Formats: sequence, C-alpha cells, structure tokens
Amino acid sequence: MKNQVFISSKRRKAEVNKNVYGHFAEHLGRCIYEGFWVGEDSPIPNVRGIRKDIIEALKALNIPVLRWPGGCFADNYHWRDGIGPRKNRKKTINIHWGNVIEDNQFGTHEFFDLCEMLNCDAYINANVGSGTVAEMRDWFEYMTYDGDSTLASERRKNGRKKPWDVKWFGIGNENWGCGGNMRPEFYADLYRQYRTYIRGDAKKIACGANDFDYNWTDVLMKTAAGHMDALSLHFYTLPTQNWSSKGKATNFPKEEWTRTLDRCKKMDEIIRGHCTIMDKYDPNKRVELLVDEWGTWYDVEEGTNPGFLYQQNSIRDACVAAVTFHIFHKHAERVTMANIAQTVNVLQAMILTDGEKMLRTPTYHVFEMFKHHQDAWTLDCIEQEMSEFVSSSVTKKNDTIFISLCNYGLDKTENIIFEHEDGNFVADSAEGYALIGNKTDDHNTFENPDKVKKNLFNGYKAEGGKITITAPPMSVITISLKV
Ligand code: AHR
Repeated sequence: MKNQVFISSKRRKAEVNKNVYGHFAEHLGRCIYEGFWVGEDSPIPNVRGIRKDIIEALKALNIPVLRWPGGCFADNYHWRDGIGPRKNRKKTINIHWGNVIEDNQFGTHEFFDLCEMLNCDAYINANVGSGTVAEMRDWFEYMTYDGDSTLASERRKNGRKKPWDVKWFGIGNENWGCGGNMRPEFYADLYRQYRTYIRGDAKKIACGANDFDYNWTDVLMKTAAGHMDALSLHFYTLPTQNWSSKGKATNFPKEEWTRTLDRCKKMDEIIRGHCTIMDKYDPNKRVELLVDEWGTWYDVEEGTNPGFLYQQNSIRDACVAAVTFHIFHKHAERVTMANIAQTVNVLQAMILTDGEKMLRTPTYHVFEMFKHHQDAWTLDCIEQEMSEFVSSSVTKKNDTIFISLCNYGLDKTENIIFEHEDGNFVADSAEGYALIGNKTDDHNTFENPDKVKKNLFNGYKAEGGKITITAPPMSVITISLKV
C-alpha cells in the first residue's frame, strides 16, 4: 500500500534540540530598525524602544535562541559604537547592506533587552574580518564579567549591573566571503588565535562552510576541531541558482515551485556531506553543527532597496520550512541549532511590517505549528512507498506523539497512513492543524493579513494504532496524539 509510515516508540533516535527552531536578526534593511526597534519616542507601541506587537507575535513561537548582529554586518561591527547614551552614538556606514547610515541606536544593551523580552538565549557573532583580537576580547569581558574590571564597571555605568549570559559566541561570519575573503587555512589559524582569548562558558563557534564547500570543513576540522564547540554552515534556497536573477517571491512560474523545493531538499545531502567529514575528525560528535543561516532567497520586491533583501512569503515558503525542519530532525545527533534568515522583513521572514502594521507570514505559522517538536525525541520511522512529494517527521515527548507532514505536490491529495507499532493511540486524543494553499503563491498582505493561516484540521481518521491523514496539495499539517 502507498504512503505508509511505521513508527515505534521504542526506536527513539535523538532529541530535536529546541535551538533548531532558532532565529537570526541582522542589521540589514528593516530587520532591526523598523522591525524590532522603533525607539522610545515612536508612536508605535513599544517597550524601551522595542515593538510590542512583534514581541507578542514572536513569543508564540517559543524562540529558543537569537543570533545577532550579523551576518556580513558582524565583521564590520564595532561594539563600542553601540553602547553608552544613544544620542552620542557614532554614525557608521552599513557597507554590506545598501551603504545606509547605521546610527547604532540598537546595540549590545538593546539586544539583550530583546532577548529577555523573548525569553531566548543570546548568540553573539563577533568581528574577525575587520576587528582585532583585543576588540573581541573586550566585548566579551564587557558582556560577561561580574567582577571589578574597568569594562564591567562601564557596563554597570551604562545600566546593566549583572553580566549577561552569552550562551553562544561566533568568531567571525562567512570569513570565506564578506567576512574577509580568507582561505580556510588562514581562517583556521586566525580562529585558533581569537578563540584563545575568549574564556568562560559560552560555546565557541567557528565559521563554517557555504553549502557544498567540503574543503572548508575539512581544513577547519583538521586544524581547529579541538578548539571549537561548534561549526556553522550556511545554505540558502534560490529557485534559479542565479544570483543576478533569483526568481520572484510571488507570481512565479510553476516550474519554480518545483525547483525551489528540489533545491531546499539539497540541505539533506549537504548536511550529510559535512557530517561525514566531521565524523572523520570527531567520531564522538562533540562538535555541533549549526546551520546558522538558512531559508529562501528571492529577488527583492519591486521598488524596494536591493540592499534590504525584502521579499514576500507564500505557501511555498511554508513548505520549504516544513521540509527543511524534517531534514534537521533527521540529523538531530549533529545538527543542534539552525537559525532562519531572518526574523523580520528580511529574506524568509516570520513577520513583515509596514509602519505600524504587521503581518504573520506562512513561514511564521509553520514555526508556530512545529514548536511541539522542540526538545522532543525523533522516532525511527520505516517508510514504505512514499510519494516523492510527501515529507514527514514524528517525535515524542512524554506520552504525546507529534506528527508533522507536508504535501508539496501541486495537484494530488495524498493519503498517508501512520501506524504505531507499540500500542494504540488514546481514542479522541488527536488534534490537528493545517496550513493549506489554493494557489502556489498564496500569501498574506497588509490588506488581507490572515489569508494563509493555520486552521483546525480534521482530515484524518484515527483507529487503534493507526491514523490516516488526508493531505491536500500544498499543505503543511500537524497532528498530536496520546499513546
Ligand atoms: O542573511 C543575509 C546574508 O547572507 C548574511 O549577512 C550573510 O552571512 C549571508 O551571505
């Protein structure tokens, strides 16, 4: 029979680290400014300058970790520009993203305030490309030292008594490109040098490869594995693979749907490739692999600044998110964090804003629907005759089994049977939600912000240890059941 999945609660595989549902916010376009930060004097309701509506919407996602300040911006960021009284802060040029003036109103203190509002961990990405070892070391001390040093006193003078908990500390970003155009051998040595001066509990992250660059991973692991807690990896989904004409976010030809989904599925091959190399140098999987930038990347919306990377977000993006999460779950033993690029107004965003208006994108709804996977155990599933357009994942937390699936086919409804081999489901315990597209580019607009949203779903039949789910084309579905 087609589309059968046999699940066993006994075959637990690995825990889906909640950080796989992590986020990335860069000083790029309208992510930080207008997105998170409007300033205390703004008519848009805010708490200490941070938008209230955004915080409220994002809290529903249980964001575990937030990476900041970049991206490419990180290797051109000098932390001292963003501390002290705001009126005295330096104006600098954001050379990577539109050459716009960065007035540094959002800096270290504001970032940690944001993390506290979101109740998430902080991932600071520091500057190697245009900074110095001393500058990085000082920033770390400013943030984390509890004693009586001059830098810690300066932090206190600036309003923060207690040190912050920097859980994750990235040493450079894309140093093979915008972070200094370095060769892996050169960066690996620099990493070792910089890392020497970062003490304390934060997990130290080395800059990893871009998509298929396995040589970068090989050199980094060979030279510096013993000095790192984690290695990053970046992979973006472009429909056309052509950076000068990537394809549009909406109103795209049918074949770009297929190409986009095919491309996003490459994440599996890429992770596998990098993991094989990591296993060679680190068979016990001590070094974590963090996919700290991922998501769709299209041509910017017409009439917007090309350096701002503002794009719409449709049911296609929702399917990309669902399929990608399923891939991350498969690699849960090594992939312990992933940060979608980016949270607000940039690339595959959760939220878009226009002045005081905001909307939740289809991708937002996937993050919200999938949050029950956070810190749950992946169950080993044996699949039989699965449609090439169906992707699914099954996890378990306590007595609840959580199934998520995506039918990214364009025309055909699929019936998928999940069979639990170790006992029946509790009668009537099933609860389902779905996000369903009618057109390939169904999306939300400021005029119609809830066109694509999660709805209660009852297209399933549960009996004994079996549940049959009827998944319409272009749908993302979640079902939770007690066993
Ligand atoms: O997310 C946008 C950019 O993509 C980041 O700044 C950079 O790291 C990557 O190339």
